[in-house]
Amino acid sequence: MIKDRLGRPLLDLRVSVTDRCNYRCPYCMPRAKFGPGYAFLPRSEVLSFEEIVRVVDALVPMGLQKVRLTGGEPLLRRDLGQLVEQLAKRPLDLCLTTNGALLPAHAGPLRAAGLRRVTVSLDALDTPTFAALSDSDVPPEQVLAGVNAALAAGLGVKVNAVVKRGVNEHAVVELVEAFRGTPVEVRFIEYMDVGATNGWRRDDVVTADEILALVAARHPIEPLAAAPLGRVAERWRLSDGSGTFGVIASVSRPFCGGCTRLRLSTDGHLFTCLFGSQGTPLRDVLRGDVPGALEEQLRSVWGARADRYSEQRGEDSGDGPRVEMSAIGG
Ligand code: GTP
Ligand code: 5AD
Ligand code: SF4
Ligand code: SF4
Repeated sequence: MIKDRLGRPLLDLRVSVTDRCNYRCPYCMPRAKFGPGYAFLPRSEVLSFEEIVRVVDALVPMGLQKVRLTGGEPLLRRDLGQLVEQLAKRPLDLCLTTNGALLPAHAGPLRAAGLRRVTVSLDALDTPTFAALSDSDVPPEQVLAGVNAALAAGLGVKVNAVVKRGVNEHAVVELVEAFRGTPVEVRFIEYMDVGATNGWRRDDVVTADEILALVAARHPIEPLAAAPLGRVAERWRLSDGSGTFGVIASVSRPFCGGCTRLRLSTDGHLFTCLFGSQGTPLRDVLRGDVPGALEEQLRSVWGARADRYSEQRGEDSGDGPRVEMSAIGG
């Protein structure tokens, strides 16, 4: 097992398989920046499945336990099932974060390829609010169909909802009620200042305490046991036993102390923090043929890490614009 400068092990790799997305969520890929003229990565710069698998295989002996495929929207990556099939042979918890729009068609084949669970983003159940938060014409019913297709295929399912003040507070109770009594766990995410384009303001954050109060005003709730190391959600149950939900409070209750996550961007840069500016390029090492160079690079990047951005929020790092979430997958 390898540890960083703060003693945190590397347990979790998040792999962005594409920087493209079929939504334009204003908190992630605002259309003003990610419009028709935006230059997405050319294919030659995107890591191949073979390269991704090599990184994973180098990390498994260092203690890696979990791989999460992300994007952009990972279901836009052609032949994703082939990557899933290869990774599923490794001793790993393999999961995927998706906006769900393409899940109705992909859930069955991905389950067959060996995927075990998915996390589906769904910020509201009503069409106008959903449309405002996704800036797409995908109806929320299509995402719900994706959730149902995933359940029918035997995948574990979580739903993520970003909560933004004045936009979707009403969705909090609606989502809890929609999924109670089902195997789906909803997690509410505090709106974060990731990237450099979403115009984040602290006032727009609906804090964990506020989210809990919204639920508690309708249903009595009780906290569940503290999460194991490396888990980002605090969990709660409805006191009548009808369901559970989680809150990811990266702004009001940062969890950097348990941050065991390494991120691999679409073009092969390693990021040791979601709020990083410059990643470490891996492509040269991957495309060269020096034995052991990849392992050495991975060890040195993790060993040098001391990130705890969310605990230092507000202090100027002086590092320049932060990487966009769509390049490193949240
Ligand atoms: P499981 O609990 O295993 O299902 O995984 P997970 O919680 O890592 O899954 P998911 O990708 O759904 O993560 C939930 C969200 O939490 C992400 O989309 C981010 O918004 C946020 N998040 C995850 N990791 C970090 C992190 O290291 N730092 C911060 N600040 N936020 C994170
Ligand atoms: N703040 C909080 N969560 C965000 N996500 C994307 N951008 C932000 C942000 N600015 C979430 C998505 C999805 C996951 C990949 O990250 O909604 O659930
Ligand atoms: Fe796409 Fe997810 Fe970003 Fe929304 S949050 S634009 S669905 S990558
Ligand atoms: Fe990890 Fe950075 Fe998130 Fe803190 S802010 S939990 S160090 S990714």
